[in-house]
Amino acid sequence: MLTVEEAFKKFKSRLELNDREQANASTRHTEVREHIRTKFAIDSDFLTGSYRRHTKTKPLKDIDIFFVLGEKEKAYKTSSPSVVLDAFESALLEKYERNAVGKQRRSTTVNFGVKEDADDKTNYRIVSVDVVPAFADGDNYIIPDSIEGTWIKTNPKIHADKAVAAHQAYNSEWKGLVRMVKYWNNHNGKPVKPSFLIEVMALECLHGGFSGRFDREIQSFFATLASRIHDTWPDPAGLGPPVSDMMDSTAKNNAKNALLLAERQAAAAIHLVREGKNGDALKAWRALMGPRFPLT
Ligand SMILES: Nc1ncnc2c1ncn2[C@@H]1O[C@H](COP(=O)(O)OP(=O)(O)OP(=O)(O)O)[C@@H](O)[C@H]1O
Ligand SMILES: [Mg+2]
Repeated sequence: MLTVEEAFKKFKSRLELNDREQANASTRHTEVREHIRTKFAIDSDFLTGSYRRHTKTKPLKDIDIFFVLGEKEKAYKTSSPSVVLDAFESALLEKYERNAVGKQRRSTTVNFGVKEDADDKTNYRIVSVDVVPAFADGDNYIIPDSIEGTWIKTNPKIHADKAVAAHQAYNSEWKGLVRMVKYWNNHNGKPVKPSFLIEVMALECLHGGFSGRFDREIQSFFATLASRIHDTWPDPAGLGPPVSDMMDSTAKNNAKNALLLAERQAAAAIHLVREGKNGDALKAWRALMGPRFPLT
């Protein structure tokens, strides 16, 4: 029978990006790029965000594509963020159905109508992309933020470098743990918002190196997240607004309670193994983490 450690290794690899998914993401990127390029002066466009850093969980939703606007489009920079987001939405509506396109805080989403099955599989297809208008700003970029009502600074390279450093310092287990807890978050009503906050907190909360046991790592990760969810978490690049600005204190309390409950459920699952109930432990972890956690 599968041990809990073996199950975690399988779970980790199921949440990794594979070649077929990468090929599908690339096809979708090209399709959106070719369309957007006919509508705006674009200097460059690239896949970014958690997808690029390998901290995106499954199913693959909201893959971020930055579209760096050229000099000809500079009037957008001095307009409210909603102007450029509306223009991107209108442009995308020329190619995609009304119900496939939606405006977010900093992007416009295109949904490809892919549905996940009961095991959360999508036959290697990505569900949606987030189209993010941007301008180059020295070494950084500025992107529209409809909640802030202004353009905010960001730097995907700094976020990526920090993730790589954290991953290396954690015996190459950091990204896997981040993907697992983001997966838990999605399967428990998204108590932590935005899910990028989990990654930002992990930069500080996971330190000292991997202990060698996934079950204990996940349990203590939940405990540390719970104890620090009320803190203010700045942009790790020190450029944009705090990443923790999406939750008010009620939302943070809900997140804290969900994380504390998860910590207790993890402790109970660990206890089941000590009682010799391996099958029940696997079921408990699957109930806690979600359907991609394997039983066999
Ligand atoms: N407050 C912020 N300030 C500066 N940059 C930010 C901020 N929030 C997000 N970003 C950048 O924008 C990217 C896209 O944001 P998003 O919320 O989609 O996060 P993500 O890391 O891609 O996570 P998810 O897996 O939920 O898509 C982030 O990866 C990060 O590089
Ligand atoms: Mg994203």
